[in-house]
Amino acid sequence: MFNDLSSPLTLLRTRRSGKPRDLVAPGPDAAQLRVILEVAARTPDHGKLAPWRFVVVRSDQRDALAALLERAYKSENPAAGRLELDSMRQFAIQAPTLVVAISSPKSESKIPVWEQELSVGAAIMNLLNATHASGYAGGWLTGWPTYNSMVRDAFGSANERIAGFVFIGTPGRPLEERPRPDYNRIVSEWEI
Ligand SMILES: Cc1cc2nc3c(=O)[nH]c(=O)nc-3n(C[C@H](O)[C@H](O)[C@H](O)COP(=O)(O)O)c2cc1C
Repeated sequence: MFNDLSSPLTLLRTRRSGKPRDLVAPGPDAAQLRVILEVAARTPDHGKLAPWRFVVVRSDQRDALAALLERAYKSENPAAGRLELDSMRQFAIQAPTLVVAISSPKSESKIPVWEQELSVGAAIMNLLNATHASGYAGGWLTGWPTYNSMVRDAFGSANERIAGFVFIGTPGRPLEERPRPDYNRIVSEWEI
């Protein structure tokens, strides 16, 4: 899958997401994950606020996360059936490594929250690039758990939001390329 990635541009041009449900062991070891997260934190951030943070959900905590998601889903959907609850469990236990990226804007700062939120997206992108550069694939999911307040409370405080569940591992099947936007539709030259 990974061809010659020695050129930084080739690395960037070949990154693509892995579907978290298709990511298998191995995931990054502790030292590799630390480097990935250090790279993620090396992200443009107006005002040096670090308006983001990362919560690693260790493999011995995945069952607890699954139980939390099931509980939260059931409290919002009391009539939920087994299939829906199973999908919550599957979400929590997929892929060897899970990092939950938290948007943590500093509302007392004069830097607009919008700019702080842009920075968390950039940090996750950096995380995905560092994951790829480390020889793994990553997938950024939001989905129902991201927007539920019980789940949010388990990861952060009232002014914070989950920006994404980033799953990391080794692709269990070749990654599919997806169509990319047409260059001429997204790039233009400004003139009066
Ligand atoms: C903010 C955000 C949220 C996403 N949430 C989901 C999701 O809930 N489910 C999903 O299948 N993919 C989700 N994705 C991933 C995209 O569907 C898709 O995998 C990704 O854009 C592939 O791009 P890439 O090949 O350049 O990595 C999300 C992406 C972003 C940026």
